[in-house]
Amino acid sequence: MNPLLGVNIDHIATLRQARGTRYPDPVAAAAMAEEAGADQITIHLREDRRHIQDADVRLLRKTVMTQLNLEMALADEIIEIALETRPDVVTFVPERREEVTTEGGLNIVKAAKQLSAIIPKFKENSIVVSLFLEPDTLAISRAKELGAQTIEIHTGRYAELAPTERTDEITRIKAAAAHIKSLGMRVVAGHGLNYENLRTLVREVPEIEEYNIGHSIIARASFVGLAQAVREMKQLLEPLPTGVSL
Ligand code: PXP
Repeated sequence: MNPLLGVNIDHIATLRQARGTRYPDPVAAAAMAEEAGADQITIHLREDRRHIQDADVRLLRKTVMTQLNLEMALADEIIEIALETRPDVVTFVPERREEVTTEGGLNIVKAAKQLSAIIPKFKENSIVVSLFLEPDTLAISRAKELGAQTIEIHTGRYAELAPTERTDEITRIKAAAAHIKSLGMRVVAGHGLNYENLRTLVREVPEIEEYNIGHSIIARASFVGLAQAVREMKQLLEPLPTGVSL
């Protein structure tokens, strides 16, 4: 099966918040992305509410037809909203107010105590728990012990490398993906992926079952429309026709 595509629509809200308008509407964007083939809608409710707002989470919970994946920090206020709105999946990510976007994976050693207390609460509510981690096998083993069901591998470092410099990082991601799978967890990846760098990862790491991609899709949408941007990304998740190589 081809890997699934989670479309992160945070930056639709970024555009709206830039002017304090009612448009563009993340609910409309989610519907359009799903219509074009998105398998999941991903949003990040940040503590500073720089893009997605509480009302968006509540509305999207009602309208998303596929799966709703809520990225969030280990913050009590956000945990409360997540348990109340009950997305299908929660992905715990690190968060710093001054960062432009999520930098690095979760520090599992630091977060272990909090995670062990709250993961069971999410699972009791049938919410799948995913942790956003660097491709680090020790961190992945610890995540399994803490009860995570899915690991999203942080591909930020891979995404920053030039095509000729990617081999070592791909090896690291491959080892991480194999380890996640061997522990019986789902393998997801995301961050910094775009129309240029996705295909190599899809070919080299077939263990990855789902990708969460945001910025590049929304950027492309400003040129070709959201539906076309989603369709183009979905195509990159399909196997190359026989005889065609990268
Ligand atoms: N996955 C996670 C856990 C993220 O935090 C983000 C950024 O919000 C993404 C995927 C999407 O990253 P990008 O916008 O760079 O595609």
